Amino acid sequence: DLEKWARDHFKVNSIEYRWSTHDMEGFDRVPFIGKFADRIYGATGFKGWGMTHGTVAGMIITDLIIGHDNPWRRLYDPKRSQLKTAGVQTITENVHVTKKFLASKLPSAKKEDFAALPEGEGQVIEIKGKKVAVYKDPQGNLHTRSAVCTHLGCEVNWNNAEKSWDCPCHGSRFDCKGKVIHAPAIKDLPQVNLDKE
Ligand code: FES
Repeated sequence: DLEKWARDHFKVNSIEYRWSTHDMEGFDRVPFIGKFADRIYGATGFKGWGMTHGTVAGMIITDLIIGHDNPWRRLYDPKRSQLKTAGVQTITENVHVTKKFLASKLPSAKKEDFAALPEGEGQVIEIKGKKVAVYKDPQGNLHTRSAVCTHLGCEVNWNNAEKSWDCPCHGSRFDCKGKVIHAPAIKDLPQVNLDKE
């Protein structure tokens, strides 16, 4: 979408660089900063605002440790996730994840589509009821992995900008050959031997 917008508005000859990242955020979009457990302080969920909230975290945690009150302590309290609104947000988010999970179970392309797959690109296809993540490298070799995310079983999507398999449910990412590169998944996508399928 961004590339299309750029091309619609400017004369673009080529796209030289791409950039992306994952930003963590809390239920209510406010970071968690404070005491997580006995003698354990932490700060997370900055949602891309690390320069600001890193400073805020330093101030709050310093005050907590030396016993001074801090006017922002309650706002960022990590235990506020027990608030009612957080519960509603959690349900909404889980409905979203469930939808993605169910959508990922719908059938997609067929085996013959291998020939049409351009070099350097990936595609999820269904072979005998199994979702397979197929990547064709620049030399034309196929790399086939299960398309089922090793975290909780959603179907991964091909990310053509970064040549990776990305999971829409909780943000796990795998490289083009199925090696895990971003949690929460900790295991690689299992290899699929097409001859046996
Ligand atoms: Fe949770 Fe994929 S199912 S990240």
